[in-house]
Amino acid sequence: MEKQGKTQPQLRTRRPSRLSRSCIILAISLFLFSFMLPSRTSFFQNQEHKSNIAKVQKCAIENLKSDLSFLDAASPIEEYEFLDRRDRLARALVASEADAFILEPGYTFQYYGNISQSDWEPWEPEERPFLMLVLPRISGGVISAKTAFLAPYFEEGRVRMLGIPSREPELEIVIWEEHWDPYSTLIESQLFSGLADRKPKIVIDEEMRDFIARGLANAGFQTQGLTPEVELVRQIKSSTEVEVLRAVNTGTVAAVRAMRPCLVAGLTENEVRDILDASLLSIGFSLFFNIVLFEEDGALPHCGFVVGQKKLTHETMVVIDVGAHYLGYSSDICRRFFIDGAAKPKRACLNFLSFFSDKMGLFKQVPHVETELHAEKLRVWKIVLDAQTAAASQFKPNNSAANVDLAARKVIEEAGYGYGFTHRLGHGIGIKGTIFQLEFNHILTTSPYLNKWNTKVALQPGMTFTNEPGIYLEGKFGVRHEDIYLITENGEAELLTGRRAAGPYSP
Ligand SMILES: *[C@@H]1O[C@H](CO)[C@@H](O)[C@H](O)[C@H]1NC(C)=O
Ligand SMILES: *[C@@H]1O[C@H](CO)[C@@H](O)[C@H](O)[C@H]1NC(C)=O
Repeated sequence: MEKQGKTQPQLRTRRPSRLSRSCIILAISLFLFSFMLPSRTSFFQNQEHKSNIAKVQKCAIENLKSDLSFLDAASPIEEYEFLDRRDRLARALVASEADAFILEPGYTFQYYGNISQSDWEPWEPEERPFLMLVLPRISGGVISAKTAFLAPYFEEGRVRMLGIPSREPELEIVIWEEHWDPYSTLIESQLFSGLADRKPKIVIDEEMRDFIARGLANAGFQTQGLTPEVELVRQIKSSTEVEVLRAVNTGTVAAVRAMRPCLVAGLTENEVRDILDASLLSIGFSLFFNIVLFEEDGALPHCGFVVGQKKLTHETMVVIDVGAHYLGYSSDICRRFFIDGAAKPKRACLNFLSFFSDKMGLFKQVPHVETELHAEKLRVWKIVLDAQTAAASQFKPNNSAANVDLAARKVIEEAGYGYGFTHRLGHGIGIKGTIFQLEFNHILTTSPYLNKWNTKVALQPGMTFTNEPGIYLEGKFGVRHEDIYLITENGEAELLTGRRAAGPYSP
């Protein structure tokens, strides 16, 4: 004690007593613990959430893979079909009294030329014109296509490596050197030598950039835009195209349908989107676009604000507008639905709550408003489906594009929601959106457009359309059902999405 007594004063000045030391240790422990507690809990919650996502993902893919018969009839477009497209184009050019169709790399080029080099950078439109030309040639009364190209001299080899289908063993390429005018080179080439002194009449593709169109005109070409005959070539689908469109669209709906029963409350919009993306990839589709919105986020047709973090509940109206690619063709479908297990128990619970709150005079409106909103969701879901049915019955040869839109609009207007159907009914669908995915992935639509003033376009067998009426109630929710239809000879449009939605729990 003495010894310690001697040293104690020294110690006291340097460190606290045993008692106060324990106090500090305790305080520090409590302090640390109070920090660790929530972070540990959220760590476990995170782990649990991650394992939930993995379970949902597994379930979605297993469900989808349980029946892949929708892929069976689809096969790649073969070489003869690319050549046939150009022959049909040649006949359309003769009907349009044109000497050539001129296009540059893009969707139309893909349709007629199928650049098949996916290993290197796609041939994007560059400052030096690289053009494809299709010219009608008549021999023995039969019209067929001659295909030629205009390319920079130093790119000739690269053009030959693009794998463009051709009848001739060698592609015919008019080359221009850096110090030449490419357009004069083209008009003076042997391709247009048979026209005597007449100016060549050319149809230029809608994707052609303005400086090239002007360059061609300045060199002496008589240029015009797409004629109805030329547009029709791409609008009428071959049976191979129809089967690929059917496969990719049916498969995309199937992926959404397979995922729905696996979904659980608490997932965010972004998580559901990623799960669906992985499902689509798992069956060999490539990704195109995927919009997942919950509740009021879906009340703008194409969204428009930052979303992704909203959490799924059993009352959520889930909006999925998604497209994928398969064998060069695109899907574009839309489904609205609720997840399982919820509405009935929740409603029973709400009834129970409202019984109590009524008795006690508490929270009177809360459960009431919820139920009314739910009822409106169900009502609007059905009105939009009826509008889609009405439109489908108008998909007949020779009917106008406008009539299809009007049929859907009538149903929605009569139900009192005309103000909420803010866009046209639909658009053509096909090869657009197959290349340049990253840069232009908003471009999917092709003519003809289904809107109420498009009275001049007559529907024809072989055309394919989206049928996508919607009602959008800002601040609440939005409903759109989207399926793909093929116009057929017999007047009964064929569904290319497998089956339509059957109910809010059966998309
Ligand atoms: C078309 O291009 C794809 C790749 O982009 C290729 O796999 C396919 O073989 C090509 N088809 C023909 C007929 O050349
Ligand atoms: C559509 O119109 C064309 C001519 O305008 C006619 O030949 C054809 O029979 C019509 N088709 C139907 C299904 O009415």
